Amino acid sequence: MTEQALKKLLESMTLEEKAGQLVQCNAGQFIANQLEITGPDGEMLPSEELNRVMGSVLTFEDAKQAKALQDKHLAADPHKIPLLLMLDVIHGLRTTYPIPLAMGCSFDDDLVYECADMARRESSVCGVHVTFNPMVDTARDPRWGRILETNSEEPLLNGRMGAALVRATQGDDLGKPENVACCVKHYAAYGAGEAGRDYNTVDVSERMLRETYLPAYKACLDAGARLIMPSFNALNGVPSVANKYLMNDILRGEWGFEGVVISDYDAVGELVSHGVAADLKDAARLAMEAGCDIDMVKNAYYLHLANLVREGTVSEEAVDAAVMRVLRLKNELGLFENPYHGADEQAEKEVYLCEKHREIARRAAEETAVLLKNEGILPFRREVKHVALIGPFAEETRLNGFWSRPGAERYTVTIPEGIRNLLPEAELIIERGCGAEFEDTDRSGIDRAVQAAAGADAVILALGEPENDSGEGRSRAELDLPGPQAELARRVIEANGNTAIILFNGRPLVLTELVSFAPAVLEMWYPGTEAGNAVARLLWGEANPCGKLSAGLPRSVGQCPNPYNRMNTGRPKPEPDSRAFPFTSCYLDTPNLPLYSFGFGLSYTTFAYEKLSLDRTQMTKDGEIRVTVTVRNTGAAAGKETVQLYLRDPVASVVRPVQQLIDYRKVFLKPGERAEVVFTVSEMQLRFFDMNGREMSEPGEFRISTGYADHLLLTERFELTK
Ligand code: BGC
Repeated sequence: MTEQALKKLLESMTLEEKAGQLVQCNAGQFIANQLEITGPDGEMLPSEELNRVMGSVLTFEDAKQAKALQDKHLAADPHKIPLLLMLDVIHGLRTTYPIPLAMGCSFDDDLVYECADMARRESSVCGVHVTFNPMVDTARDPRWGRILETNSEEPLLNGRMGAALVRATQGDDLGKPENVACCVKHYAAYGAGEAGRDYNTVDVSERMLRETYLPAYKACLDAGARLIMPSFNALNGVPSVANKYLMNDILRGEWGFEGVVISDYDAVGELVSHGVAADLKDAARLAMEAGCDIDMVKNAYYLHLANLVREGTVSEEAVDAAVMRVLRLKNELGLFENPYHGADEQAEKEVYLCEKHREIARRAAEETAVLLKNEGILPFRREVKHVALIGPFAEETRLNGFWSRPGAERYTVTIPEGIRNLLPEAELIIERGCGAEFEDTDRSGIDRAVQAAAGADAVILALGEPENDSGEGRSRAELDLPGPQAELARRVIEANGNTAIILFNGRPLVLTELVSFAPAVLEMWYPGTEAGNAVARLLWGEANPCGKLSAGLPRSVGQCPNPYNRMNTGRPKPEPDSRAFPFTSCYLDTPNLPLYSFGFGLSYTTFAYEKLSLDRTQMTKDGEIRVTVTVRNTGAAAGKETVQLYLRDPVASVVRPVQQLIDYRKVFLKPGERAEVVFTVSEMQLRFFDMNGREMSEPGEFRISTGYADHLLLTERFELTK
């Protein structure tokens, strides 16, 4: 349709019909009221009238349902305006790939692209028009359960990966049925909730907001994301969905965003609980005034917008502008001509979990695993066949993570299956040992597990956090392994030192005690559908671990949050990895540094950083410096290394971080092979924000280093001239 035709359509709509376009319901609520909903959700159950005019639906099952929803709606809608169908496809639809925090550990934007491209293929045939992805809330506090949904504690990494996902998902033309629109979330600073508690209030300075939290959302919008979702939290006193500064001033004003803003689940209604709206009507007014186009599930807009306009409280122009944004998106997706978009039952059968997709998911699971410790245990030799597989995750199928689709566990390759796929002749003894729930206290299985361990060539100890313990609404105050798992580990390792621990979890855990006695630890996160195959290939050296931590692992909960790009203080501790130095910024009882810093990860080979060189030592504002890092594989196995580039601005008008990642590149090197990795540094990368939110750079000295956080190996200096 032309813009003119869309405007004509808008003019022909009643106020109620316009409001309907701005409302989103759950598919469950929508389909012929099949669900019996009571309690607060019951109040949200849409009337038949709403079904007739409603603009969008979230969370549906498959192509068949997508088509049925569309048919039912179009049969009733007087204007024949198709529904927008949205779904949370976060790390795969049917073929699940590793959780985003794990994807961050790959330091590989191309891999993110490849995985998102696979998710796009599965989503489009399912009938998805919009995915609520990427989630790029920079998160520095592992108590927050949603840290699993983000790529990193690091804004640059987070933004680059988010942008790669947007490019892969949206393609070059949203009108093509194989492409899906992206909704960036959760704007803004949702990851900074006080004390790591989900939905909690956020108070950050303008400078912190702009340097740490906003860049990743902006990177995704620059990549073309068509929608954005304000976060649940209040930011500096104002809930995001009603935050005019965030939405009108920054988003639409400074950034010129013209796409659709959709509230988070019930977030408009929650303005009442926040205590900034007197009732639902007031909430509808506040959200509309702040520029929120769609009200997800609460029906505040449907119930009140028309009256608010009639009373003159909300302008009809504001409602029209919101409706036009929604109509334009539908039009861009080609829904007026083809309301099913890519939904295709036959293609679902061919695409879901196909060989090609499984291969991508397996590779991603391998590339995102982080080898934390290895005292010569791994890789197991091929002759190691009599293996004890122990622990609550030994036969677990729920290794997919919070946002995997319901039933995803049915398709998971388990660890025993993975081992047998690789080594059909392997003799496996499997013992659970104990549970992994918080309330698990039963130790009665430990003795049997110890016995099994004692008689085996090698032991795999599969430990972690149950899948349901990280994700939305799943904050934790303790970050250890739940239940008696630490005790199980200690006893098993005493019985057989040839033990490798593999971990499944959705957040950085405190592993201080565990690594003090464990000879080998491989962090698998939630690897997804191909979990077992990836585990087996990594343990037996068919794949070489190359993941680097996308968020540091704390030494204790008391350190959290402890971002790698921390600011210096007036009294920095001279040796941050030691115990107390009186009257410096430190703890009496623990070092300042995390147990494993951002960017850390071992391999089955070793890499030497031989040289860091700059092609000049002075740079003008419009000039560039070429930085060359020479790295060599000094071990016996081929492997991938992530070369990381860090910046420090030692003297500036505001305090600057002690280290800041400004670029990264992954290289594959055969034994003995050497690579020269070239980065280009420009003035853009030297910028920061002053206390008033002004972006600038200052002439003076800068330091460039390589290595990983807190362990910078080589450093060179240059000057930015006036
Ligand atoms: C989450 C969002 C999600 C939405 C729709 C909310 O609870 O915060 O991330 O996209 O639900 O499922």
